[in-house]
Amino acid sequence: MEIIRSVHRMQEAAARFRAAGERIAFVPTMGCLHEGHLSLMRWARRHADRLVVSIFVNPTQFGPKEDYRRYPRPFREDRRLCQGAGVDVLFHPSVRAMYRADHSVWVVEEALSQGLCGAHRPGHFRGVTTVVTKLLHAVQPDLAVFGQKDAQQAAIMRRMVLDLNMPVRIVVRPIVREPDGLAMSSRNRYLAPEERVQAVCLRRALETAERMVKGQGIRQTRRLRAAMRRVISRYPLARLEYIELVDAESLKPVKTVKSPVLAALAVRIGATRLIDNTVLKSGA
Ligand code: PAF
Repeated sequence: MEIIRSVHRMQEAAARFRAAGERIAFVPTMGCLHEGHLSLMRWARRHADRLVVSIFVNPTQFGPKEDYRRYPRPFREDRRLCQGAGVDVLFHPSVRAMYRADHSVWVVEEALSQGLCGAHRPGHFRGVTTVVTKLLHAVQPDLAVFGQKDAQQAAIMRRMVLDLNMPVRIVVRPIVREPDGLAMSSRNRYLAPEERVQAVCLRRALETAERMVKGQGIRQTRRLRAAMRRVISRYPLARLEYIELVDAESLKPVKTVKSPVLAALAVRIGATRLIDNTVLKSGA
């Protein structure tokens, strides 16, 4: 496995692969890799000749009071996991390599990024769209693979490559969960033992909505949201940030479950912000 730290060298490697007629799959990450990331890598490995993974904790997608500084950076362990997953190139640039001191160009998506996490993390998606554009220019992949846990991010990525005519296919892979249902996340390691126990509340709330739609045929999102709220309120360490039920494609709020609806929520457990989601289908 080659480790590349400069954008220029990454572009040279990509050009080499392409000249040899090889297809490149790309998994962008911020490191602190877990089974969720590994499942993306395994899928990517099977669907291309070359697998590039980036590890870059992107400062521009963190708010001033967020966890940029303390975000875990276990690089040696990450490198070992990448090696085991058959990664060809680990792209690990520094902040200076990615952003010039006088950086002044941003990529901004103006519709899908307004609600859900975008409403609570101002500037977050501007940071994500900008860095992913820069990463795509560096890696020049045929496929870029994202996780469904960040459903809003995934929808924005699809829109971005469409609107900007970027020659890359966005692939979104399912959420990977711990045995008790907690969605895998790098931030799970912030949780103290009792917080970890209560962190299942996100999944429990989503399961409640799934049961109501599937088992009882309840379609009104008002009722589903109220029931999900009640579940969260039973966990004393949980502070709800939002529960939204939106059209799975446009991310606009909906009143009833007809076409697929994304039920998404963000909850703080102690100081840790967790997100999760499911797609509800009417079955009609
Ligand atoms: O999902 C993430 O880990 C990040 O938002 C991404 C896509 C790597 C951009 O920094």
